[in-house]
Amino acid sequence: MNDWEFVKHRTATQGTVWRSADGLLYKRTGDEDLRAETEFQRLAATLGYPVPEIVDSGSENGHYFAVERAIGTTSLHEEALADARRDGQVSHHVVGTAAAVASKLLRAQARHPLQARPWFEKAAFAAEVFEENPDFDTTRVHEVVDRALDRLAQLPVVQGHLDFGLPNVLRAGVIDWQHHGPVPLGYDVYPALDIVAFKGGGKGYTITPEQRAAYTAALDETTTSLIGQRVSEHLGGFLLVKCFFFLALMRPADPARHDKHIKWQYRRALFTMGLDQYESSGSIDTGTFPTLERFTAEHR
Ligand SMILES: Nc1ncnc2c1ncn2[C@@H]1O[C@H](COP(=O)(O)OP(=O)(O)O)[C@@H](O)[C@H]1O
Ligand SMILES: [Mg+2]
Repeated sequence: MNDWEFVKHRTATQGTVWRSADGLLYKRTGDEDLRAETEFQRLAATLGYPVPEIVDSGSENGHYFAVERAIGTTSLHEEALADARRDGQVSHHVVGTAAAVASKLLRAQARHPLQARPWFEKAAFAAEVFEENPDFDTTRVHEVVDRALDRLAQLPVVQGHLDFGLPNVLRAGVIDWQHHGPVPLGYDVYPALDIVAFKGGGKGYTITPEQRAAYTAALDETTTSLIGQRVSEHLGGFLLVKCFFFLALMRPADPARHDKHIKWQYRRALFTMGLDQYESSGSIDTGTFPTLERFTAEHR
């Protein structure tokens, strides 16, 4: 029997994460979504994806649970934070490790392409975004998206994580497969450093343009060898989808929650910036995104 220590309630899904007293195992409790996540993770392991091995799963006390092996003690997000506190910047080591894990994931994904299939709706949470932001449900937005999807159709479709970012990456692999779904090859990993900018700069570190360029160059070596293409050409399209993803489920149910309202407005502003940039240039420079602090100051 294990003693389980509480780690956290999960973000964006019902359930809880627990760690065994010896630190060797993690347990998640939840419902049907966790069952689907666990089944996907088992499949991903058989496909050679860098994921923790599931060692037990089932039902107890009317809930679903899954136990997996620990694949490290700190995420790259925590390492980036520690670097920034110590040296004022994220180390190249973190960037290099992120690129190495990303390349492993890319290789496994490219080895198992899916039949071409729709992926945008799920990856972008498009229905939720348009429901909460009906003023964005316009011909113009749909035309820009269609143009991006036409270009992205050059890429093979593979099984993806959908929420690949430093908090879910450890040296030995990728955790937290709750979202998973089909994506174009590269969608998961290329935006991983750019998406820090969507968090508004309050997370304790920033990524420099040089670090983003080094990361992208490392991934391009991998995709060139895998499919003969520098997939960085599609980073703009990927980031347009991320503009949707980070706007989804942001509209506060209670309009009186000023803190939540301003975060929603912030993501709406990033969406608009991303859309404008993609429309005019086919790319999106997250270096132009304001911090949440600056945005808030300008919208008081
Ligand atoms: N297999 C694992 N190995 C190491 N750490 C893990 C593992 N699974 C979970 N963790 C830790 O638990 C935290 C929460 O798990 P996660 O599934 O990412 O929750 P959330 O859905 O809230 O993001 C992670 O940030 C990580 O610190
Ligand atoms: Mg997580």
